Amino acid sequence: MYEKITETAQWIRSKMQGHPTTAIILGTGLGRLAEEIQVTTTIDYKEIPNFPVSTVEGHSGRMLFGTLGGQEILAMQGRFHYYEGYSMKEVTFPVRVMYELGIKTLFVSNAAGGMNPSFSIGDLMIITDHINLFPEHPLRGPNFPTGPRFPDMHETYDHELIQMADAIAQEKGIKVQHGVYVGTQGPTFETPAEYRMFRIIGGDAVGMSTVPEVIVAHHCGIRVFGISVITDLGVENKIVEVSHEEVQKAANAVQPLMADIMREMIHRN
Ligand code: HPA
Repeated sequence: MYEKITETAQWIRSKMQGHPTTAIILGTGLGRLAEEIQVTTTIDYKEIPNFPVSTVEGHSGRMLFGTLGGQEILAMQGRFHYYEGYSMKEVTFPVRVMYELGIKTLFVSNAAGGMNPSFSIGDLMIITDHINLFPEHPLRGPNFPTGPRFPDMHETYDHELIQMADAIAQEKGIKVQHGVYVGTQGPTFETPAEYRMFRIIGGDAVGMSTVPEVIVAHHCGIRVFGISVITDLGVENKIVEVSHEEVQKAANAVQPLMADIMREMIHRN
């Protein structure tokens, strides 16, 4: 596994320009921020040795290098989901490669269903913490020397970055919520009883991604900032049918605001 990671990192290094220390992973319907990057190198996932290939609609599956907000950046447009059939090692492989490439700060975004009754569709939620409900742990197995066997998780989402996001949102007049992201395997959206349960256990939003990548990034000592776009509501009496297309549409509508915050954070970071 370690050889694969270094082999992939070496291959990417031979193609990329610059030395980015910031990376972003763009989730469902949220790939447009990548269009603002002044791109120097584009690599399709399918070209990258040892990389899994993204299969889901709305995930275009490319790695971009360039500048955003005046900073060098690595962007993943599209991610690998556990529900697609990848193992946790495959889902988190790109993050391990990022670490090898020298990434120090990771921005992640996703579409999520809101359980907090004060949330509305189209809200942005800064992730302050998560609950990992995936059936397999990404750090299961021999420990990688990037971090301890039993990693501390008390500040998985960097407080300084959260404060910076709040300050930027306030300056720009963008409303942001804070909350706990529940990571589930999918691919089903939740039943009303499941949304209720996730609310009871302390969740504000639920989605099918992010948590595995964040755990591995944290274990690698990478600072993490995460944002969810609330695309549907799992709130009692507000639950309606949800589809992938609606999730994409709702995410698409708010992505300029998310992009505003992230671009400025990257600029200031
Ligand atoms: N549940 C799980 N994943 C999601 C949802 C949801 O309601 N919305 C967007 N991704």
